[in-house]
Amino acid sequence: MMKHHISRRNWLRNGAMLSAGLGLLPSQWEALLAKTPQGSKSRLQLSQLAEEAKIINDFPKLKARLLANENPFGPSQKAKDEMVKAMDIGYQYSFFGAGELSDLIAGSFGLTKDNILLGAGSTELLTSVAYYLAIAGKNKGKIICADPPYDWLMISAAEHGMDWEGVPVTKENKHNLDAMAAKVTEDTPLVYICNPANPNGTVVDTDQLTSFCKEVSKKTTVLVDEAYIDYVDDPGKQSMASLIKEGYNILVARTFSKVHGFAGIRMGYILGQQELLDKIMKYSSTISKQFSTSSLSGLAIAGAMSSYQDKAFIQSCVDKTNEGKAFVYKVLEEMDYEYVPSSTNFILFPLRMHGDQFQKAMFEKGIGVRKWKFAKQHWCRVSIGKMEELELFAEAFKEVVG
Ligand SMILES: Cc1ncc(COP(=O)(O)O)c(C=O)c1O
Repeated sequence: MMKHHISRRNWLRNGAMLSAGLGLLPSQWEALLAKTPQGSKSRLQLSQLAEEAKIINDFPKLKARLLANENPFGPSQKAKDEMVKAMDIGYQYSFFGAGELSDLIAGSFGLTKDNILLGAGSTELLTSVAYYLAIAGKNKGKIICADPPYDWLMISAAEHGMDWEGVPVTKENKHNLDAMAAKVTEDTPLVYICNPANPNGTVVDTDQLTSFCKEVSKKTTVLVDEAYIDYVDDPGKQSMASLIKEGYNILVARTFSKVHGFAGIRMGYILGQQELLDKIMKYSSTISKQFSTSSLSGLAIAGAMSSYQDKAFIQSCVDKTNEGKAFVYKVLEEMDYEYVPSSTNFILFPLRMHGDQFQKAMFEKGIGVRKWKFAKQHWCRVSIGKMEELELFAEAFKEVVG
């Protein structure tokens, strides 16, 4: 079994910087790459990220930041006001803030504090799940996920000797639930479902996913990453969180980084059965569900308390995102480009040139987008920014592909 030697701290720092779009110096990426074994999946991923980091690093002054699925309309004014107030008492440890936020969020799902773990973003918690699986010895079988996946959890697990298998998405770019279920054995440590999916932007049918979760969770834990759930119609209905109350072995990961606009403020959570969360907690920075712990800032807690309850703000962000999506769809249609209809705040579409060439040309025009290659096809993923950014995207896109 292959062991990987990047320290957790370096990995988190480097990954967070890339996803925040800051970009590491190419020499730092190369140093990180040099530490990972040849031929490993982590190495492959890192070399792709290193290539992209070089491009991002060369063009730090973006006119349109459409590369990290952030919400440029957030955070809400109310959340900002609460964070400013919290700053006055920022010298104090926020002993009870995490407990209050846990009560608020868990309560909204009919759950209790025992069913929630908070983290400085969901990345921290996905990493904790990966470490729990690897270190607690649940590493006989492979983690099952979609191909392409949102791969953070799998890469973190692979660093510690675990293996994973991606099951190709369907023609419609959706998780292939039947094919995934067929891969699950008693040794499968976890099934990771990203719904809505990143980078595809698709959702699976709620009834099918519910049946899948109920069946598969008899054999292993199903983790449903719902980072983008707020962008779907009736998120309450499409979420798998209600299965936790019904006693199923499901984990649901959520983040404040998307519709709440907290990507740089950092807040996320994971919901699940108490027994499993207590085990995962040992591999997180949380030592008690009652008290705030090292990774959670009092400012982030105060802001999240306010934003979580601000339904009007969330709706306004979803509305503006939908307007932006309609605009980008139209631009693509005008240029006779296909796209994957999106249930998120980003759109994936197939390119007719190499992804590197496209991304570089867009960056040269100050437009930051991401690129993928899967199913023998190059793809662009464009996040929905403010309308003025999308207009700049449209102009550059027409010039680059026209
Ligand atoms: C599917 C998915 N899960 C989790 C995350 C991590 O979010 P954060 O660590 O900012 O909470 C992201 C970020 O892009 C994501 O796309």
